[in-house]
Amino acid sequence: MEKERKLIIAGNWKMNKTVAEAHDLVRGLKLELANIKDIDVVICPPFTALSEVSKEVIESDIRLGAQNMSEHSGGAYTGDISVLMLKEFLVRYVILGHSERREYHKESDALINIKTKAAHAASLRPIVCVGETLEERESGRFEEVITTQVKGCLAGLEKNQMEETIIAYEPVWAIGTGKTASAEQAQEVHALIRKTVAGLFDEATAKRVRIQYGGSVKPANARELMGQPDIDGALVGGAALEVRSFSDIVKNCLN
Ligand code: PGA
Repeated sequence: MEKERKLIIAGNWKMNKTVAEAHDLVRGLKLELANIKDIDVVICPPFTALSEVSKEVIESDIRLGAQNMSEHSGGAYTGDISVLMLKEFLVRYVILGHSERREYHKESDALINIKTKAAHAASLRPIVCVGETLEERESGRFEEVITTQVKGCLAGLEKNQMEETIIAYEPVWAIGTGKTASAEQAQEVHALIRKTVAGLFDEATAKRVRIQYGGSVKPANARELMGQPDIDGALVGGAALEVRSFSDIVKNCLN
């Protein structure tokens, strides 16, 4: 698939997989995807499996990501994980502001902005999630919601940091529901996100930023989504938990 920007497909394992299960999954993924260079492939296991998965992917082209991190560099923050701790396992990416963190842990755009800057300060690439709820879509407010989230999460970054930031558009109504945004619906929002980034920074920076789509991505719909001009990858939840479905998503998006 001819794309302006290199595709990046990330698997978000969420709160799934024990160490033994993570080991099996990553071994399977390595057999299928270890040498894929045309697409950036990232897997994001839970913190407890990072050590094991890190040992497995080290000599492959699969990259490691985390699902969250603290905005603090260390200290009395019970239950939190610092960026330095992630870097010990050669983590390169970190998902920030996933809608489940926004909903269950009340993460705000302002907090996500601080975390995004902290990730860059440590040379981790943030995957910053935005997306509207069903109510926000149906009431026609989604454009305002998305632009507010993009501005709030990304304000104040340096241009080079913005270029290294991945944005994931994940309509909340499509996450884990089996309902995918149509390729046209997703493209419309991706174009809006890119325009918002251009307004915050400039056109050249916006052209370099990769924007993933997330929400019930499957082998059957991945290629059509990736065919849209402003969709540069996928953030995959449920279908990232099995070797077959995740590797088929990646392979279906190759040339
Ligand atoms: P899903 O999750 O693919 O299961 O819809 C996507 C996500 O939440 O990142």
